[in-house]
Amino acid sequence: MSREYALEPRKVAPVQTEYRTIVTDFPVPESLPILRTLRETEPVAMQGQPPVVWDRAEGFQVYDRWGNRWIDWSSGVLITNAGHGRQEIVDAVVRQAQSHLLTNYCFPSEIRASLVSRIAGLLPAPLEKVFLLTTGSETVECAIKLCRTQALRKYGREKNVIVSYDKAFHGRTLGSQQAGGIPALKDWIVNFDPGFVQIPFPDGFRTEDTSFEGFERALKDLGVQPSQVAGVIMETYQGGSAAFAPKEYMQKLRDWCTNNGALLVCDEVQAGFGRTGTMFGFEHYGIVPDLATFGKGISSSLPLAAVVGRADIMDLHPPGSMTSTHTGNPICCAAALASIDLVVKEDLPGNSRRIGAILHSELKRVQKRFPQIGCVDGKGLVAGVACVKPGTKEPDGDLAFKVNERCIEKGVLLFSPVGLGGGTVKICPPLVINEAATRESVAVLEESFAELVD
Ligand SMILES: Cc1ncc(COP(=O)(O)O)c(C=O)c1O
Repeated sequence: MSREYALEPRKVAPVQTEYRTIVTDFPVPESLPILRTLRETEPVAMQGQPPVVWDRAEGFQVYDRWGNRWIDWSSGVLITNAGHGRQEIVDAVVRQAQSHLLTNYCFPSEIRASLVSRIAGLLPAPLEKVFLLTTGSETVECAIKLCRTQALRKYGREKNVIVSYDKAFHGRTLGSQQAGGIPALKDWIVNFDPGFVQIPFPDGFRTEDTSFEGFERALKDLGVQPSQVAGVIMETYQGGSAAFAPKEYMQKLRDWCTNNGALLVCDEVQAGFGRTGTMFGFEHYGIVPDLATFGKGISSSLPLAAVVGRADIMDLHPPGSMTSTHTGNPICCAAALASIDLVVKEDLPGNSRRIGAILHSELKRVQKRFPQIGCVDGKGLVAGVACVKPGTKEPDGDLAFKVNERCIEKGVLLFSPVGLGGGTVKICPPLVINEAATRESVAVLEESFAELVD
């Protein structure tokens, strides 16, 4: 669970470098009326956000109105793959708005056709159909529906189990939370659908057994027969730790799904569109899932999400039976098209790979210095720094929170820690970040750890 940030301003050391400027107390005293309005008017659940009131954001930097400037390690929340406030995206959004076509569902539009064919053109076979939605949670709900539909039609009602992973996050709607693997987030569900089961994620840190036999054993221990499994859904990397599964495990999982009539779904809401150093995260595994879900970085800005998949699966439901009011909103489509063009034209997966290699080698160096860092995971421009009680794997959420606050006060912006016990400091800058800003921001992280634990 997120901790609450204090709203009492405190003195912090001024910072002035090429990429960072901090010139006020923190939180900024002048921002308090805005922060207090939010606290008074929004639910408590919204209070886990660092108290930085954004004014504008460009490239990999975020600015407030009071002269402060951060290197952004959040990308919003893994949204701005092509960079914040890109002129090309602004122009596309303005052009579309000025055409006075602000919405048109449920009718066709040219821009929706352009976007779905653009996305389809990037997908490996046999993924060929694209269904646009608005949020990542919606895409997960849709993927679950498709898994169960194909199982029901082909094999009958007994084949209905959706297998997912411990510690997974797939969204906050009823189905996506049942597929999630964080018990504290789903107490409220009370009457669980027995067709959702979670098994250990083979991250090699908290689950030491990364063999595929672990998958089969976990299902057996849960009393689930392979013939009952309708689908396996996994985050391509776990959002809470940035951990990937071993390639061999995934290849065996791919075969297992094929052999057992189950669909494999990669939830790429975080991993898609260049984040991990490849266009799609599943490329690291040398596999193609049956379905994949996208959101966040697909547009670098406005709310748009997509389910993609094999035509035979995507076409299971008849005309008019998979709808959502804001599907293919023309302004969101314009933003997504412009963003995808930038990701491709500027080879941002390549930048993510190159700068990500520097980021990860720097983080490994920092890890060697501090026993409080249990593990550094991730690929490309996503990393999870797991704070632990030294000598154990027990997450240290308090330390992660302090590190997060300290980095923000020094001009490196992060969203609040994630993962088990809130112990993971998550690093996910826009994919346009350069080497110098990457090195500078890791130095800030190192300095923050040193001040807090040395
Ligand atoms: C892997 C993954 N799936 C699904 C979601 C849900 O997306 P949304 O918040 O857009 O509903 C998220 C959001 O963080 C996510 O990281």
